[in-house]
Amino acid sequence: MRTWVILLLTLVLILVIKVDGQRRRPRPTVVRPLKKPTPPPPEPVEPTELPPPLPPGPPSIFPDCPLECFCPPDFPSTIYCDSRNLRKVPNLPSRARYVYLQNNFLEDLTEDAFKNASEIQWINLDNNRIKKVGKKILEKMGNLTYLYMEKNQLKEVPTYLPPSLEQLRLSRNQISKIPAGVFNKMDHLILLDLHHNKLSDNVFNKNTFKGLKNLIQLNLAHNILRKMPPTVPDSINQLFLDRNNIEEIPTNYFRDLPNLAFLRLNYNQLSEKGLSKNTFNISSLLVLQLAHNRFTTVPIISPQLEHLYMNDNIIENTERSDLAVSFQYIGSRADAGSAQDLR
Ligand SMILES: *[C@@H]1O[C@H](CO)[C@@H](O)[C@H](O)[C@H]1NC(C)=O
Ligand SMILES: *[C@@H]1O[C@H](CO)[C@@H](O)[C@H](O)[C@H]1NC(C)=O
Ligand SMILES: *[C@@H]1O[C@H](CO)[C@@H](O)[C@H](O)[C@H]1NC(C)=O
Repeated sequence: MRTWVILLLTLVLILVIKVDGQRRRPRPTVVRPLKKPTPPPPEPVEPTELPPPLPPGPPSIFPDCPLECFCPPDFPSTIYCDSRNLRKVPNLPSRARYVYLQNNFLEDLTEDAFKNASEIQWINLDNNRIKKVGKKILEKMGNLTYLYMEKNQLKEVPTYLPPSLEQLRLSRNQISKIPAGVFNKMDHLILLDLHHNKLSDNVFNKNTFKGLKNLIQLNLAHNILRKMPPTVPDSINQLFLDRNNIEEIPTNYFRDLPNLAFLRLNYNQLSEKGLSKNTFNISSLLVLQLAHNRFTTVPIISPQLEHLYMNDNIIENTERSDLAVSFQYIGSRADAGSAQDLR
């Protein structure tokens, strides 16, 4: 009897231990099947720089809408052909007034495409590969007011620009030449943007900007100028010359510009050596940007000036009682109101 009891107890004990052991055994972790990693996109067999043209969009309510383009039903005068990998300008219908062709791979503008579109008012050709614009195309656009051709491969300012132009944006090309007389009849031009090109001093003479009677903004920043252009139109209100290598400014240069209010000369090589004492003492100026130059003192400015940017020069003494009112930004460090940088 006793032996049975002992045996039974032992059995119970073994069972308890076993159950306990089972309990302690770590639960098997559920192994989910691993997600297959998405395979990388296949390499193109023949790598080509030019992507294929996009397929045509849905049919338009306008039968003459080029297949490659979008003609919004509510704006019959607007044609969107931008960002379509186009190599060629589609034939534009005569109702086109506002034409968007930016971000394509256009190289040549063929006359045919513009044959009927003589009433274009705005055309955006930014970010293409245009090297030249033919005479016959431009001459026909007698109503063109905005011509945008930023980021192309132009080597010179196109000739035969329509006199109706108000804005001409040619920045980020490789322009190193301004043909004589191109601006002669452009008395409606308000904005001329030539920044980020390859313009050097010998491009400019006294007559370069002759004819621009109403120009308000002239942007020549980011070129390779060592001198100021000999003359700029006296209607000018905004003159941008940042990021050149200008060392000196002729005496009374700005006195002949009675409308000049915004002057930017950041990132040049200017110091008091290359200036006369009253160079920047001009009553029309509201904003003067001279950051990132080599000034050791603050130049004389007029009491009307509202903003002066002079960070990143080598100015030692910034205590100037006459600056108390107008003067806002100064210092030798970027955090003292950094001048707007230019692309
Ligand atoms: C241009 O105009 C002519 C005459 O009106 C017409 O026959 C032709 O189809 C037009 N072309 C385009 C691309 O609209
Ligand atoms: C410019 O547009 C007007 C109508 O606004 C038109 O009469 C004139 O013929 C156009 N000029 C050219 C050169 O197309
Ligand atoms: C700044 O120009 C004004 C107007 O031409 C002149 O009266 C003034 O004396 C000039 N300031 C200095 C410090 O030369």
